Amino acid sequence: MSQRLLVVNKGELLFKAVTRVVPVIPVVFWFVYGSASETRSQPSLLKLKLGKTESLREVSKPDVFESNSEGNIFRSEKYLDSGHQPEKPVGRETEIQRIAQAIKPVRHGKTPENLLVHGPAGIGKSTTVKHVFDKFEDETSGKAVFINSWKYNTRPSLLTELLIQFGYPAPRKGKPIDELLSKIKEWLDKNRGVAVAIDEFDQLEDPTEVIYDLSMVNQESQNSLGLVMVSNQPPQQVQLDPRSRSRLNCQTLQFQPYNASQLQEILEKRAEKAFQPGAVPDEVIEAIAQQVAENSGDCRTALKTLHKAGRKAEQEGETKISIENLKMT
Ligand SMILES: Nc1ncnc2c1ncn2[C@@H]1O[C@H](COP(=O)(O)OP(=O)(O)OP(=O)(O)O)[C@@H](O)[C@H]1O
Ligand SMILES: [Mg+2]
Repeated sequence: MSQRLLVVNKGELLFKAVTRVVPVIPVVFWFVYGSASETRSQPSLLKLKLGKTESLREVSKPDVFESNSEGNIFRSEKYLDSGHQPEKPVGRETEIQRIAQAIKPVRHGKTPENLLVHGPAGIGKSTTVKHVFDKFEDETSGKAVFINSWKYNTRPSLLTELLIQFGYPAPRKGKPIDELLSKIKEWLDKNRGVAVAIDEFDQLEDPTEVIYDLSMVNQESQNSLGLVMVSNQPPQQVQLDPRSRSRLNCQTLQFQPYNASQLQEILEKRAEKAFQPGAVPDEVIEAIAQQVAENSGDCRTALKTLHKAGRKAEQEGETKISIENLKMT
């Protein structure tokens, strides 16, 4: 009896399965065949759009991207990127010395100065601090950590990144702050000579807590870390409560916008690497430097203007940039 029931049930099951699958068959058929045939029909559709004789093969010839490949204008555009780190920042000798002086004491286990570097956009604050930090690692046995708070803008993410740069394996997300801080302290007890730069400091969500954390760690560890904060905001606008401000006991270094002759020198150095010889006449560089110095002194803008003028000249098949190309940027 139960065997019969089983047979009946199996029959029912089979029937149900077939009736469910049958409506799906046309859909599957369309999906496999229909979409494939659509793909196959693309060339002919495209041919129609392109007109009589042009075939796809002709259109996709590499000369679309290869034409003008080395270019009459550019040699290597990467030197015009705003992320490019120059070998030595032009015209920032005094600032380089000041930043170096602030972090130097950590090499001998002495207490460093904390420094707030500030000034408007595009005037070489990050570039200069990065340069000093690179030199600190190259020329001393110290450790230099450069963190951008645009990317790590919360207390746990910044402290975690600090630990990772110290060489700890990446801690799992959600580690309690106390644990992160005690690891940082442990590292500072064993290592002397660490300088930490927090770039775009004004992007931090909780600057007061971060400063408080780092000052506490400094007080409780065998060795201190040298802290350099970089910000667009002047010191009085940096959001710190009085307690953190007083603990930080911060010195300041103000960057001034570039003048025309500094911008000219920066542009000349970049142009030498980025452009073909003779592609950038002196008058073009002078005009950009003059105009930018009058408006903002922002080196990023100067580099962008030169880059765009270069692109314009290239599009027009020229071998050098003209003042006219500048007007069109
Ligand atoms: N002294 C310099 N020598 C060579 N290149 C420079 C110099 N100063 C700035 N630059 C270039 O100008 C661009 C902007 O510089 P940087 O990013 O350092 O400015 P910033 O002051 O940090 O700006 P922001 O406040 O927007 O972060 C970068 O491409 C950098 O390479
Ligand atoms: Mg910067």
